[in-house]
Amino acid sequence: MIAKHDDARKYDVDRDVFNRYAGLSLPRHVSYPMPTWWEDMTHDDADKMRQASDTHESACDLSLYLHIPFCEKLCKFCACNKIIVGTDRTPVREQIERYLSALETEIRQLADSIDTTRPLRQIHWGGGSPTYLLPHEMERIQTTITDVFKITDDAEIAMEIDPRTTTEAKLRTLRQLGFNRLSMGVQDFDVAVQEHVRRVQPFEMVRDLVDTIRTLGFPSVNFDLIYGMPYQTPETIQLTVEKALTLSPDRVAYYHYAQIPEKIATQRGMDYTRLPDSSTKLDMFLVGLNLFEQAGYEFIGLDHFAKSDERLTQSLRDGTVQRNFQGMTTGGDLRLYGVGVSSISHLTDVGFLQNVKEIDRYMQLVEEGQSPIDRGKWFTPDDIIRQAVLGDLYCIGELLPKRIEDRFSICFDDYFAREREILKTFEKDGLITVEPDGRIVVTKPLGRVLLRNVAAAFDAYLSSEAYRKGELATFSINA
Ligand SMILES: C[S@@+](CC[C@H](N)C(=O)[O-])C[C@H]1O[C@@H](n2cnc3c(N)ncnc32)[C@H](O)[C@@H]1O
Ligand code: SF4
Repeated sequence: MIAKHDDARKYDVDRDVFNRYAGLSLPRHVSYPMPTWWEDMTHDDADKMRQASDTHESACDLSLYLHIPFCEKLCKFCACNKIIVGTDRTPVREQIERYLSALETEIRQLADSIDTTRPLRQIHWGGGSPTYLLPHEMERIQTTITDVFKITDDAEIAMEIDPRTTTEAKLRTLRQLGFNRLSMGVQDFDVAVQEHVRRVQPFEMVRDLVDTIRTLGFPSVNFDLIYGMPYQTPETIQLTVEKALTLSPDRVAYYHYAQIPEKIATQRGMDYTRLPDSSTKLDMFLVGLNLFEQAGYEFIGLDHFAKSDERLTQSLRDGTVQRNFQGMTTGGDLRLYGVGVSSISHLTDVGFLQNVKEIDRYMQLVEEGQSPIDRGKWFTPDDIIRQAVLGDLYCIGELLPKRIEDRFSICFDDYFAREREILKTFEKDGLITVEPDGRIVVTKPLGRVLLRNVAAAFDAYLSSEAYRKGELATFSINA
């Protein structure tokens, strides 16, 4: 179903208020505390943290993330941890083989060092591009996981797929291996945008792949779209979203373009004269919000949409939706272990661990029998309370003080006295409402497009100076 043009502009926000909050770049809180605050960690630290997690009172079932860093070609906008290996496999065959062996070894080492009587309920292959691998390579790694973990019958088994490297043979293998969710990098359908960001994949390629995915019986397919890149306009975005809707994805991640050229060298090659300004990016976001909602999708968190019968939407209802490094996901009730270069583990109520980011160092450490751990963070009691607050805000767009009080035996108003003062400004500006039953509700659309500003008030690691000096006006949108 394609929406009428007028419908695409139904939602709007108070631009004066919006502009007062536009300016500073704020965290998206895919983790709290953000990685800036993590510390160096050793093999022994990793062992201690895993043991503490196994014996913790909140010890729960397991989720596994695998990182496959390889991609054939570079997309200029890409902020992921990837290695571009080209289309010819010959020169890199040994490197791929060595990486896959290291990955197998790490999976076995991990299984030896944690309590695997707990079942594995979720597996996510991310990258880079896991579809760079050949069918037998995918099978080899998945079989290793099946050998050492107890995978539940209803486990969610997902892979991020790049349409340009996804063949029917690979999809058949994935389906046979039990994969039931695919997340496809679509990004944008506009030819000028695709050419500029060097991510050329015609609409027909995506359409045909979706047909094959459905024919093979995969229950769920997600599209990643990005708005805010050079050459995109609200009109081109509208066409992209409308084309995407004709393929009826079960979920959509509608990402704001994260522009960090100081860290991502390839982004410096973008034409910055053609970057949309923050008001135009807001228009783009609202176009997506309007069109997805009119097509019956539920808006989840900061930037995700899902059909009402989708697992993510159910997870929103039963309170197990979470925000993590893979975006909004189910499995908020699981302990996440990451394997592969740069991967991150989130051991509920205990801490974060991250593997080294250099592939050669990663392979060397694993081959020596060491944990390839580089950094991490033990949570403080305050971190855990604030994670719960940020989880409510980002996932359900509401903060339930009573729930926080019951769970942590604190008085919300005393504990968050400083934040309560800031919330008064947000309420005055229309970013939140405070309901008679005490719920703090982020308004839609204004509060939701400024959700990061609301969340920042609860981030104890951000300087509180800005709040005291009344510099809230310089805080930015989802940028
Ligand atoms: C690992 S990739 C997905 C799989 C595969 N490599 C592909 O591109 O199809 C993860 C997703 O991150 C998103 N992404 C990458 N760089 C981004 C950026 N700078 N800003 C926003 N989203 C970005 C893209 O939407 C991409 O699909
Ligand atoms: S967007 Fe995907 S395919 Fe493109 S470089 Fe990044 S990880 Fe690789």
